[in-house]
Amino acid sequence: MSGSTGKGKVRERLRVGLLASGRGSNLQAIIDAIEAGTLPAQIVAVFSNKKEAPALERARRHAIHDVFLDPKPFINQPDGRMDYDRLVLEELRKHDVDLLLLAGYMRIVTPVLINAMPNRIMNIHPSLLPSFPGLEVQKKAIEWGAKITGCTVHFVSEGVDEGPIIIQAAVPILENDTPETLAARILAEEHKIYPQAVTLYAEGRLRVNGRRVYLSGMSDVPPPSVISPT
Ligand code: GAR
Repeated sequence: MSGSTGKGKVRERLRVGLLASGRGSNLQAIIDAIEAGTLPAQIVAVFSNKKEAPALERARRHAIHDVFLDPKPFINQPDGRMDYDRLVLEELRKHDVDLLLLAGYMRIVTPVLINAMPNRIMNIHPSLLPSFPGLEVQKKAIEWGAKITGCTVHFVSEGVDEGPIIIQAAVPILENDTPETLAARILAEEHKIYPQAVTLYAEGRLRVNGRRVYLSGMSDVPPPSVISPT
């Protein structure tokens, strides 16, 4: 965590590493918040399992170190997924990463990483967990007939999309929504809540107790409810 080290020295900003497989719009939202001065952190490296991931290109454009970690040598190996994560961990240690963000990272993270960084890995997911874990969740929410879905930032635990929830945003589902139109409205909320969650972490305002994440310094006034349809 950032702040005083207790030895009279002020530690440098929170060192964030980010894993992405694709377009990297959440990465961009984090970069924008840092550049706007609202998120007291620095992204020290962006890693991807996809060589051509646009997220890597975004990192380069902002002079952030980018690393492609090739999963091919690990495919069909007995402990391939764990060994791949050992490689990731080695990279994180090399860059002295305090907090790891998964942002559109389409691999399941193994206990190798999770146990090495308990409550120091966050993920963003495009549904209101625990509803609709997994993939193609906007389509699943529409097909289920849900009236409200949204997005969730949570700490990563061994169960996929199951870790302690930090922050959520609710998004109404409209009758004429397609998975694409819904995904676009959810994504706009993702870009708000992911930087917000990282800011809370960087400011030392998150405390995890079991499944619950307590946030200090938040307003006592409940936000308005979301009713859909109105
Ligand atoms: C985002 O919608 C994110 O929530 C989702 O992938 C997209 C990545 O977009 N993640 C998952 O579905 C993880 N289960 P981005 O690459 O533009 O940030």
